[in-house]
Amino acid sequence: MAKHLTRRSFVKTAAVAGSAFAAAPAIGRAGTSANEKIGACIVGVNGRGNSHISAYLSDERTEIRAIVDVDEEVGNNRCEQIEKKQGLRPKFYTDMRKAFEDDSINIVSTATPNHWHALTGIWAMQAGKDAYVEKPVCHNVHEGTALIAAARKYNRMCQVGTQCRSSRAVKDAVAFIQAGGIGTCNFARGLCYKRRASIGALGDYPIPSNVNFDMWSGPAQFTDPRLTRQKFHYDWHWQRMYGNGDLGNQGPHQTDIARWGLGVDTHPNAILTYGGRLGYQAERKDPNYVDAGDTGNTEVSIYDYGEKCMVFETRGLNVDDSADDEINKLFASTKGNKIGVIFYGSDGYVVQLSYGHCVAYDKEFNVTKEFKGGEDHFGNFISACQSRKMEDLNADVREGHLSAAVSHLGNISYYMGESNKVSVEDLQSVLKGVKSLDDNLATLDRTVKHLEKNGVDLQKYPIALGAQLEFDPEKELFTNNSDANQYLTREYRAPYICPTADKV
Ligand SMILES: NC(=O)c1ccc[n+]([C@@H]2O[C@H](COP(=O)([O-])OP(=O)(O)OC[C@H]3O[C@@H](n4cnc5c(N)ncnc54)[C@H](O)[C@@H]3O)[C@@H](O)[C@H]2O)c1
Repeated sequence: MAKHLTRRSFVKTAAVAGSAFAAAPAIGRAGTSANEKIGACIVGVNGRGNSHISAYLSDERTEIRAIVDVDEEVGNNRCEQIEKKQGLRPKFYTDMRKAFEDDSINIVSTATPNHWHALTGIWAMQAGKDAYVEKPVCHNVHEGTALIAAARKYNRMCQVGTQCRSSRAVKDAVAFIQAGGIGTCNFARGLCYKRRASIGALGDYPIPSNVNFDMWSGPAQFTDPRLTRQKFHYDWHWQRMYGNGDLGNQGPHQTDIARWGLGVDTHPNAILTYGGRLGYQAERKDPNYVDAGDTGNTEVSIYDYGEKCMVFETRGLNVDDSADDEINKLFASTKGNKIGVIFYGSDGYVVQLSYGHCVAYDKEFNVTKEFKGGEDHFGNFISACQSRKMEDLNADVREGHLSAAVSHLGNISYYMGESNKVSVEDLQSVLKGVKSLDDNLATLDRTVKHLEKNGVDLQKYPIALGAQLEFDPEKELFTNNSDANQYLTREYRAPYICPTADKV
């Protein structure tokens, strides 16, 4: 494993950096005394950022002193809302760099779109702040490595928004698996069977006048005045320039739990995704309909970790009755969407059903144990900011990087092969030769039935077979496809350039 990914070397680097940056306004040093509140700055406050606001408002240790959003309307509304509850109105900024100059800010908590995550975290930590960064912690693999390097270099706490790491239910379920509760367990399946309707036709739409679109676009290409999706906020998730599809949206929660439960502490060696953005012509009853999204809405991603294996299934079409018998039994308590992780053991299964609920089954699908309860992920971040011990973080940035990378590597396989449309028979013959602990053909069969049930004509709109990629987890490079390496980073747009790990 690469030096920058080794846990021991992180701790060592952190210790060295601690002395080098003693002058930074860290909690417990120049920034706050024991009686003083921790000053919070929240960046990106439309949807998820509002949950960040609620968390810091309800934690007695914190005070929200700054809000940053490039949508002035959203930002000012949130300041209003915070003032009512907190008494103090936070300062409002549209440029995060200005907010990070403020010495009364100790922590930065960010819920911007994905293409901004790593750069926001890096700028915040360079300015001496601790950072809570939403999942996926980066938009591409190299950004994640750079974010880790920044956390270690500046001796900052960097927590990732994979809140299941603080769930009592998931912690107990993982401990149960690792203690042999379901026998030997080498295989996990993540499910994101989550209905996502079309985001509207690809077109030319106005950019809202209250948004600074240059800054919203940030490290991504600047397409002004062209917006190709109808809805400005949120739907960027399904445009790869900014988002990572549901494999990189819901996915990092489940790939993180799967990796954790399996005890996998590295990247996969081999990756294959097949799928497509399918079914919206049938949904809109228009054979020529082109949806504005360009990420896969139906994907099966297979990850080989040597002795362990993970499969992630993404489905965005109607997911009612779309599973097979086994999955239906394991998710018997849920209807419609099925979002979770199944661990397959020699003696039974453990299923993560939700944030605070996991269930163990024997081989006959009888419930043998239940795990329930949650904890405060934001509170855990604040506690670690106070203790200054990275080990106290439930979701240190390195975990976030490895889990986000699962999604990115899966998407790269898809992007590399998206024009390689194949028949189901061809897919079957390829999948027979792909190393996996899954029954590859059964998963394909289930996926095909799901698509057909949703009116997808697979002759006219065939599934794409992604590239079969081999990856060097230490070097973080593909070894059998040099073209794929371009997707591990992006072309940045000055001044929004995410530095490489050696330049943070
Ligand atoms: N942990 C979770 O369970 C969870 C849940 C939902 C969303 N999320 C994550 O939160 C993030 C935000 O999701 P959302 O649904 O709130 O998206 P959103 O589009 O609704 O909100 C993003 C906000 O960020 C603002 N923004 C964009 N660029 C900015 C910049 N440079 N500086 C300041 N503000 C900027 C936008 O104007 C908008 O107000 C996503 O990365 C998503 O993956 C996490």
